Amino acid sequence: VATWRELERQARERLGNGQEAKWLVQQVAGRTGAEWLADLDERAPDRCLPFLERMVERRVAGEPLQYVLGSWGFRRLDLSIDRRVLIPRPETEQVVEHAIAELTRLRLATGKPPRVVDLGTGSGAIALSIAVEVAGAEVWASDASDDALVVARANLAGVGGMAATRVRMVSGRWYDALPPELVGRVDLIVSNPPYLAESELLDVDPSVSRWEPVEALVAGPTGMEAIEAVVDGAQRWLRRPGSVVVELAPPQAGPAVALALAAGFTRAVVRPDLTGRPRALVATLDRPP
Ligand SMILES: C[S@@+](CC[C@H](N)C(=O)[O-])C[C@H]1O[C@@H](n2cnc3c(N)ncnc32)[C@H](O)[C@@H]1O
Repeated sequence: VATWRELERQARERLGNGQEAKWLVQQVAGRTGAEWLADLDERAPDRCLPFLERMVERRVAGEPLQYVLGSWGFRRLDLSIDRRVLIPRPETEQVVEHAIAELTRLRLATGKPPRVVDLGTGSGAIALSIAVEVAGAEVWASDASDDALVVARANLAGVGGMAATRVRMVSGRWYDALPPELVGRVDLIVSNPPYLAESELLDVDPSVSRWEPVEALVAGPTGMEAIEAVVDGAQRWLRRPGSVVVELAPPQAGPAVALALAAGFTRAVVRPDLTGRPRALVATLDRPP
């Protein structure tokens, strides 16, 4: 007979990490906060034990905590995630912040609820955050990975309510996924595309390269291929005024600004993440004079 407290102690010993042990046991128990503290000395149902055992084994084998838990927080959302999608990152939460600031600025210019496209949506983190946080926004989310779209659609169902009715999930490579009637009618294009070069995959932590989908991480030989596809294609789909917001790695900031200006954007800046490093290209097409 084991109590939750005892199971947490055993998990802590095997994982060597008290916080992770607590999260795993809480996930199995389906309790957090005051409820968890009140029930610590309750007997855990036997049927829970194999679930916990399997989670601890996966974590001991090196699988990222977020996949083992099966859900992770992103801004206001609790997203279901597994190995079909990238684990949503804190720097991307900040990219969404920049995208929302840009939408506010654009809306001041047009006065209408915006139409937004999220290219390479993965778990749906960016698209669903914008749908939930920006009143009236119509959001199109695309991915080339049908596996990822299954996860994104599950998260869309989890959001529910009015926000969910304003989101469309579409399958295909970058802009190929969008219906032609959106040409010239999108206010904001946002993307966290893959931005590693093939050779850089060897340098990233094995907990990333061994577990996360390679097509979510690697863009091609230079690492700029996906950023180029998103920025170069944006002109055709954007309304004027309209903007594109693209997450990148700090060393890509200079090349990305040059790329946007060469592609005909009126203005291009790179905004920082929470650690102050350049992280989000914000490029704007002004209203024609
Ligand atoms: C870095 S992940 C970002 C996932 C999610 N937006 C986030 O921020 O957590 C990049 C996503 O782009 C998708 N992707 C890669 N190549 C693509 C392509 N050619 N067209 C559309 N999506 C693509 C991957 O499947 C992956 O879901």
